[in-house]
Amino acid sequence: MQLVTTRAEATQFSLSEQSLGKKVGFVPTMGALHQGHLSLVHQSIRQNDSTIVSIFVNPIQFNNADDLKKYPRTLDNDLELLESEGCNMVFAPSVEEMYPQVPTESYSFGLLEQVMEGFYRPGHFNGVAIVVRRLFDILRPHRAYFGEKDYQQLVIIRKMVEQFQLPVETIGCPIVREPDGLAMSSRNRRLAASERAQASFIYQNLVFAQGNAGKLTVKDLKNEIIRRFQNHPSFRLEYFEFSDSSSLQPVDDWNDAANIRAFIAVYLGEVRLIDNIVLKETRV
Ligand code: PAF
Repeated sequence: MQLVTTRAEATQFSLSEQSLGKKVGFVPTMGALHQGHLSLVHQSIRQNDSTIVSIFVNPIQFNNADDLKKYPRTLDNDLELLESEGCNMVFAPSVEEMYPQVPTESYSFGLLEQVMEGFYRPGHFNGVAIVVRRLFDILRPHRAYFGEKDYQQLVIIRKMVEQFQLPVETIGCPIVREPDGLAMSSRNRRLAASERAQASFIYQNLVFAQGNAGKLTVKDLKNEIIRRFQNHPSFRLEYFEFSDSSSLQPVDDWNDAANIRAFIAVYLGEVRLIDNIVLKETRV
C-alpha cells in the first residue's frame, strides 16, 4: 500500500493504474476508521481493481470550531487497518496541500441543502462539495463509495455529479451498526461510557418509527418520538423528520412519497449524532 501526501503524486498513481486498464474505486474519509468505513473499502475492493482511500479532516465542512478540534485523529491505526484490508493507496494530504489558497467555490443544491444538516450546519455541504469535487479531480476514480449514515450527503454528492456531469459512479452503502444498533461513527469514540450505554435509544426510536409508520399519522408518530427524546434527560434533539428519500423534503402523509426515511440529529452529552432508517421503499 502506498501512502501519498501530494496531489501530483496522487493523480499520477491513479492515472498509472488506469493506464494498465484497471478500474479505480475511491473511498473518501476523514479518518478515525471503523467497520462502517471498512465496509465501503470492502465493496470498492470487490468492484474495482485498485482502491484508493483519502484521509483528510476537512476544516471547511465544520461549522463548529470545537467539533473540528475534537474530531478524532488516528492516522497510524487507520493506515494499519487499510494495509491489512488490501487498500492500494492512501491519500492523506495536509490542509495546505488541499487548500493552497482559501477556497472560494460556491455550490448550490437548492432545497436539498435547506433541510436537516444543511439547515442546522450552514456551509457544511458547500465544504463537503468543495473537498469531494477536488478529490474527484485529483484521483479521477471510476466509482466512489459513501455511507448511507450521511444520507443527505450522499444525495447532495449525487446531485453535484449530475450537475457537473462528473465521470464517476457514486455508490451508497448501507449503515453499519454496533450490536446494540448504534450507527457506527467516528464521533462515537467521544462518548463517555455512561453515554455510550444509552446511545442505542436513538436506534430503538428509529425502529419504533419503522414499526408504526402507516399505523399512526405522520404528525402523531413524529410528536411521540419528539416527546420520548424530550423526556430523556441525556438527549437533546436537534431534529427528527420523516422525509422523501429523493427530495429530502418532509412529508405530511405516508402517501406523499414512494420512498420515505426517518432522519434524526441529536446531542448525547456534547456529541452530535445522526442516523436514519428506511420507512417506506417502493421499488420501480
Ligand atoms: O463523510 C465524510 O467522512 C466526509 O464528509 C467526506 C465525504 C470524507 C468529505 O470530507
